[in-house]
Amino acid sequence: MMKKQTLLFIGAGRMAEAIIGGLVRNSKEYIEKIIVSNTGNIERLNALKHKYPVQTADNWKQDAEKADVIVLAMPPSAHDSILKELSDVLTHQFVVTIAAGIGPSYLEERLPEYTPAAWIMPNTSATIGESISLYAVGKSVKPKHREALQLILDGIGQSEEFTEDQVHNLTAVTGSAPAFLYYFAETLIEAAKDMGIQEERAKKLVIQMIYGSSRMLEQEKSPSALREQVTTPGGATAEGLKVLYENHMAEMMKKAIAATNKKARGN
Ligand SMILES: NC(=O)c1ccc[n+]([C@@H]2O[C@H](COP(=O)([O-])OP(=O)(O)OC[C@H]3O[C@@H](n4cnc5c(N)ncnc54)[C@H](OP(=O)(O)O)[C@@H]3O)[C@@H](O)[C@H]2O)c1
Repeated sequence: MMKKQTLLFIGAGRMAEAIIGGLVRNSKEYIEKIIVSNTGNIERLNALKHKYPVQTADNWKQDAEKADVIVLAMPPSAHDSILKELSDVLTHQFVVTIAAGIGPSYLEERLPEYTPAAWIMPNTSATIGESISLYAVGKSVKPKHREALQLILDGIGQSEEFTEDQVHNLTAVTGSAPAFLYYFAETLIEAAKDMGIQEERAKKLVIQMIYGSSRMLEQEKSPSALREQVTTPGGATAEGLKVLYENHMAEMMKKAIAATNKKARGN
């Protein structure tokens, strides 16, 4: 059985809370201690302490020494300085970042040689345990680190391993595309409102339509088969789809993904 893990979180925002919630729910027996820290927002730390069996740290450096896993749950921009500080105290700890764009090679370049490092890209549904998380591991990750990583991943939903480069590219599909879907939902709600339907009812219709459709997708696994089922040749839905085809919706989605990736890579 895996050794009980002590986890230190640097950053105590929404994503840290989603992971802590998942760990407490799913993996209590594998957790020795969870310690959380931030830039000094005591109210936030107290709120977490109230809700979960966690300890809080004023000065995470002392706690880093005792940790098995250090989870970097702060913004990408805070990484450089934190990694510098971490380098002074690391001995054997496994460093995992959840920050957009910060792959294991980025961590390895800035941490002592042979530091085990990994990158998890969750998405917003992590807060309800339904993330599809991408992850990539660094050169010094051993099976025991993978086990610890899996505890984190399983608490927030499902996960798939990729190369670092693939995680960079796929972040648009799993991390940013929820915003595209929400935008799609907004436009349908607006369409219903234009027909004189009140906002609350319009929302109910659209949300259940998306929920039912994703449940169907989960069972059927073939979006194209489902699309065909709904589309009688020559029928009304076919006319609607024709507008989407004629206006190059597939092309547009590809452009949106490409633009997201271009920005994420900072060029
Ligand atoms: N939210 C998502 O859906 C999502 C998805 C994938 C990845 N992520 C990644 O997850 C990370 C956290 O996102 P979030 O949504 O949880 O953000 P958030 O709710 O804004 O929380 C950010 C946390 O980082 C802390 N922080 C900021 N600078 C710090 C520093 N220099 N040292 C220590 N702590 C610091 C903040 O502490 P204070 O309150 O004290 O400032 C706060 O606790 C980001 O890197 C983001 O890219 C988020």
